[in-house]
Amino acid sequence: MTVLGIDTSCDDTSASVIRDGIVLSNIVFSQLGHSKYGGVVPELASRDHIRNIVPIIRKAIKEADVSLKDLNGIGVTYGPGLVGSLLIGMSLGKSIAMALDIPFSGVNHLEAHIFSLFLEKKIKFPIIVLIVSGGHTELVLMKREGEYSIFGSTLDDACGEAFDKVAGMFGLPYPGGKEIEKIAKKGRTDFIHFPRAKLDGYDFSFSGLKTAVLYHIKKNHPSEKVIPDIAASFQEACVDSLIYPTIALSDTIGINTIGLCGGVARNKRLREKIREMAPECDIIFPSLEFCTDNGAMVARCTEFHLKKGDSSPLSLKAEPSLELP
Ligand code: KG4
Ligand code: ZN
Repeated sequence: MTVLGIDTSCDDTSASVIRDGIVLSNIVFSQLGHSKYGGVVPELASRDHIRNIVPIIRKAIKEADVSLKDLNGIGVTYGPGLVGSLLIGMSLGKSIAMALDIPFSGVNHLEAHIFSLFLEKKIKFPIIVLIVSGGHTELVLMKREGEYSIFGSTLDDACGEAFDKVAGMFGLPYPGGKEIEKIAKKGRTDFIHFPRAKLDGYDFSFSGLKTAVLYHIKKNHPSEKVIPDIAASFQEACVDSLIYPTIALSDTIGINTIGLCGGVARNKRLREKIREMAPECDIIFPSLEFCTDNGAMVARCTEFHLKKGDSSPLSLKAEPSLELP
C-alpha cells in the first residue's frame, strides 16, 4: 500500500510517502517567520501553509519516485492544531483523494506522534508511550496498535511549551527547546534546584517550574555567564518531571517497554537520563526527524487505519481540540 501523509497542524508544512511501512520520502518545511514573535502567529502560519503545501507535496512525490496514480490512500491531520492551518492540509488532501478517487483518512495528530515509534522498528506490545510535544504531555498505555488508555496528562503547560517560554525569558528564538538544549550543554545541572511537581497519580505540571525560572531571573538578574547553568538546571527539572511518572507507571503496571515521541523527545539529556534511570526497560525513541512534526508519522497512521478499512468521509471537519481516542 502506498500512502501520502500530510501534516499542517501548526507551523510545519510536511508531506511524506510511505510504501508498506517504509518511508520513501519525508519533506518538512519549518516556518521561520514566527521566531521574532516568540510563538506561532496563526494567521501567518495559515498563509505560509498555502504558499508551501503544493511544492512540499510535489517534492514528497518526486523524492519517493512515485506518481500520483501509485497512491492507494491519503491521510491528513484533522486535529488537534490551529484551525486555519489544519484546513489547508485537509482541503488539499481531500481534493487529491477526490480527484484520484482513493480513500481519505483524517488523522489524529497525537495518534500520529505515537505511530512515529513504529516507523523504524517492530514494537512488542504492550508499550507505555510518553507523548511530549509543544502542545501535549500525555502518558498512555497501548495494549495493542490503535488501543489507548491515558494514565497521565499535563495539568497546565505542555513540556515543550515550558521550554519555549523559558527560552523566551533568555531572549532565545522560538521554538526554544533546541536552543535551551544547546546552551544547557555548557551549564551545570545542579546550579539551582528548580521544583519538580509532585502530583498524585501520573499527571504532569510545568507552570510552577516555569514561574520558578522567571522569579529566579527577576530576583537575581543573572549575568550572561550563568545563563547556561540556569538553562541546564531548568532542563534537568523538566527531564526529571517527565521521567518520574513514566517510570512509576512502568513499575506499577509491570510493563517495561517505554516509547517517547513528540518534539521534546529529541532532547539528548532526556534520552540519556531515562535510559540511566530505567536500565531494565527497553526505551524507544524515533529518529530525530520523526520526533518533531512530520508527514511520515501521519502516513504510517493512515496506513494502519486504511488497512483496517477505516477511511473518513470527505465531509470530515477540522477539530482543533481533538483528543486521543
Ligand atoms: O511535536 P512538535 O514538533 O509539535 C507539536 O506537536 O507541538 O514539538 C515541538 C516542541 C516545541 O515546543 C519545541 O521547543 C520542542 O518540541 N523541542 C524540544 C527540542 N526540540 C524540539 N524541546 C527540548 N529539547 C529539544 N531538543
Ligand atoms: Zn506534533
